[in-house]
Amino acid sequence: MEKLIIKGGTRLEGTIPVSGCKNAVLPIAVAAAILGDGVSVLHNVPNLTDVMTLRAVLQGLGATIKFKNSTLYIEPINHLEHEAPYELVRKMRASIYVLGPLVAKLGKAKVSFPGGCAIGPRPIDLHIRGLEHLGAKVMVEKGYIYAQAERLTGTEMYLTGQHGPSVGATANVLMAATLAQGTTVIRGAACEPHISDLACFLKAMGADIEGIGTSVLTIRGVKQLRGTEHTVISDDIEAGTFIVAGAITRGDVYVKGITHQQIPAISEKITEAGVELDWDDNGVRVTTPREIRGIDVSTAPFPGFPTDMQAQVMGMLCLASGTSLINENVHTDRFIHAAELNRMGADIMLDGGKAIINGVSGLSGAPVMASDLRAGAVLVAAGMAASGETVVSRVYHIDRGYESIEKKLNNVGANIKRVKD
Ligand code: UD1
Repeated sequence: MEKLIIKGGTRLEGTIPVSGCKNAVLPIAVAAAILGDGVSVLHNVPNLTDVMTLRAVLQGLGATIKFKNSTLYIEPINHLEHEAPYELVRKMRASIYVLGPLVAKLGKAKVSFPGGCAIGPRPIDLHIRGLEHLGAKVMVEKGYIYAQAERLTGTEMYLTGQHGPSVGATANVLMAATLAQGTTVIRGAACEPHISDLACFLKAMGADIEGIGTSVLTIRGVKQLRGTEHTVISDDIEAGTFIVAGAITRGDVYVKGITHQQIPAISEKITEAGVELDWDDNGVRVTTPREIRGIDVSTAPFPGFPTDMQAQVMGMLCLASGTSLINENVHTDRFIHAAELNRMGADIMLDGGKAIINGVSGLSGAPVMASDLRAGAVLVAAGMAASGETVVSRVYHIDRGYESIEKKLNNVGANIKRVKD
């Protein structure tokens, strides 16, 4: 296992490029490998362990996939397997994306039921309900989901659960509906930019989709989808993380390759805290001329403030003046990072799905542990702002979703070393 050793007290200065969006690449690669009838080429693909895990899942199903210079070449094979085993699915929950496309393409699927994770129980009832609406018979037995349908049939459905729309269920049902007979209307669909990117990719493959970017998606089923070429959008959460890194170190950074439309709520909240964001067509300059102010943040589905930025903004608010309140409404148990930040001198109290953060004047370096991807990112940001040395262990969580994090940050003045345990 590897860990990151961070010498704190550095000020970031310079340009940080944003990589392709992990959460867009995952479903797009699934669509290319399972639904497509020809080779697809995806550009701007980040080199992440999650992408490589998905590659293994898709290769296990029979696709041929090459990755070179941020480009994925995906060749679907005619005789796809219909089974995604536990050994692969347990490494990454997003493997559940193969369920809908496999039933749509092969008429059957056997996919290991994904387990919970550090950010909560994460059910998949909406994925199953959506596929049942399309006429699939779904059964769960001995840790596997079995789904079957001769041909899926379009219908109208409402796909929102008690915590709002589901990104994963929307992607799963959207992909399945492209090859269903007739028209499917998904109401209460997730509107995240990566869902729109997936829908644009499916359209380029020949799917007939209306309402992209809205909560009502209308999909007229087609018989076949072709391979295509696509450039994946940039990663909104990676960009947000770098904005926080700039702010928390009181630096002067230009986060390159992100648009305001992709991160409206992040932009709004970070500005409200007193950080200056100066947008142009290619990215955003981040400066912090005044003290950071305490603010209230509530996570919500897009265009609300993303749960995937909750940990990072909490890190920033630890150093704000006054008291901040964070309501986590999407993954209500997602607060493991709070205890690690407290080990660094933060003052955070948890109360159910809420965190109350009393700003402190400084953080001090400490050994801490990344419990999930974004919890890992905030510890790196906090480590750069803290005095002394911070050692972040379980870096493999961070590598799931950040491409060369220490290289990108060291290029703008951080002092981070990766060492083996
Ligand atoms: C995706 C993202 C993840 C992000 C999350 C919310 C990927 C690979 N992952 O995860 O980083 O944190 O969106 O933006 O894109 N829910 C149900 N039943 C379901 C599915 C979800 O109740 O069948 C609930 C979840 O427990 C959660 C909420 O709905 O409270 C949203 O989850 P969802 O959007 O599905 O998250 P993921 O797609 O798993």
